[in-house]
Amino acid sequence: MLDFAIFAVTFLLILASRQASGIPGLAPTDEKDGNLPDIIASRSLHEFLVNLHEKYGPLVSFWFGRRLVVSLGSIDLLKQHINPNRLLDPFETMLKSLLRYQSNLSGDTGESHMRRKLYENGVTKSLQSNCALIQKLSEELLAKWLSLPEAQHVPLCQHMLGFAMKSVTQTAMGSSFEDDGEVIRFRRYHDAIWSEIGKGFLDGSLDKNMTRKKLYEDALMEMESTLRKVTKERRGRSFNRHVFVDTLLQGNLSDQQILEDTMIFSLAGCIITANLCTWAVYFLTTSEDVQQNLYKEMDRVLGKGPITHEKIEQLRYCRQVLCETVRTAKLTPIAAQLQELEGRVDQHTIPKETLVLYALGVMLQDSSSWPSPYKFDPERFNEESAMKNLSLLGFSGSQECPELRFAYMVATVLLSVLVRKLFLHPVKGQVMETKYELVTSPKEEAWITVSKRS
Ligand SMILES: *[C@@H]1O[C@H](CO)[C@@H](O)[C@H](O)[C@H]1NC(C)=O
Ligand SMILES: *[C@@H]1O[C@H](CO)[C@@H](O)[C@H](O)[C@H]1NC(C)=O
Ligand SMILES: *[C@@H]1O[C@H](CO)[C@@H](O)[C@H](O)[C@H]1NC(C)=O
Ligand SMILES: *[C@@H]1O[C@H](CO)[C@@H](O)[C@H](O)[C@H]1NC(C)=O
Repeated sequence: MLDFAIFAVTFLLILASRQASGIPGLAPTDEKDGNLPDIIASRSLHEFLVNLHEKYGPLVSFWFGRRLVVSLGSIDLLKQHINPNRLLDPFETMLKSLLRYQSNLSGDTGESHMRRKLYENGVTKSLQSNCALIQKLSEELLAKWLSLPEAQHVPLCQHMLGFAMKSVTQTAMGSSFEDDGEVIRFRRYHDAIWSEIGKGFLDGSLDKNMTRKKLYEDALMEMESTLRKVTKERRGRSFNRHVFVDTLLQGNLSDQQILEDTMIFSLAGCIITANLCTWAVYFLTTSEDVQQNLYKEMDRVLGKGPITHEKIEQLRYCRQVLCETVRTAKLTPIAAQLQELEGRVDQHTIPKETLVLYALGVMLQDSSSWPSPYKFDPERFNEESAMKNLSLLGFSGSQECPELRFAYMVATVLLSVLVRKLFLHPVKGQVMETKYELVTSPKEEAWITVSKRS
């Protein structure tokens, strides 16, 4: 039996009934594995869902192992879906189950609410006190790019991952990550862990390959021991810069809970920030007009001065650029929710304990919600209703996940530094292919060139 991490591990539940609710979709291809062979053949869960929704409509079902899964593929259905489980952040839910952390679903909701608030406060407070730090890291990157010979190709993904790692580790865990050696070590663990869990489902092959399994488990252990060490160093002491861990330490959490939350924030924060920055810069290279509009706004709001937390609120067009980046790239294409109680969508009953996927990647390219969905056009978010649609999907407003909120801020600071000093150019003839995992990234390195704005 293959291992379906998304739910099999965390949601140790009784098997769903096979005579499902009449929702259109696939019958299991394999008795034990359900439709997993079809998912693997589609290369990614996102691409599998695109095909499935195209064939069967906005509400579909399929089988993860012996478990029925329902996927919603339109904003209208999403609005109808009564979700009794709003407390859980879908991205965090997936990541926790992939890391095999207990999510204590049936536990005390008061406690999990408290824990979630603490996590969000940690992100908010660390952003407020680290704006200058992120500006400094952005300026280091700018200096590096300025020092390159004209027309030199810049490996965008690599540089953005490096920048995101430094930003996240220093804002989450403090100054011990000013040491490049620490960041490089962290990156090695991060890459090893993410290469296994990033796909969003485990197909069981990890357990059959001892080399891979050992690499993964060693990386996880090393990462945990790094996080434990940092936590221990900061407990009970005060530092002049407030970081994420400090907020967790002020709460009423067990050591295990602090470890898990720091792990989730470090892993998800890095990958989301790196890819938001990569896609934003990449899309800017494809549109001189958008770049120019962004420059004008930065110049008007910031002049030659530094960016501050208050000024960020005023950079409305920048926010539109980032929202359109999330939409066009389909930054996180899948969200998962567990249907705690029986629910309904569009005349159909969704049995209790069904795993409900939100096919965000499908919804983000749906032409009935987004005219010319494949066009990168930040102007579409001039309309309040477009922004509202994005909020419904959890990419903006009160439902936005904390890691994404963090990424928006870091990307805004980075763009404010880059766009005021540089023109960003595409490399001619480059074909950008996409890898859809839990977070969407370019399949190969994305190359750009830069030149000085005089
Ligand atoms: C989840 O609950 C179990 C049993 O109640 C407890 O042992 C464990 O520490 C909890 N895990 C977390 C992360 O709170
Ligand atoms: C096991 O994983 C390693 C590392 O990814 C790989 O090089 C090797 O080919 C795999 N072995 C098998 C039998 O698949
Ligand atoms: C702290 O957590 C413990 C165990 O979860 C709980 O019994 C206690 O009431 C909590 N204290 C406060 C002040 O929240
Ligand atoms: C928002 O989504 C709804 C439902 O799909 C659609 O009818 C509407 O046109 C969308 N609004 C905008 C501005 O894209």
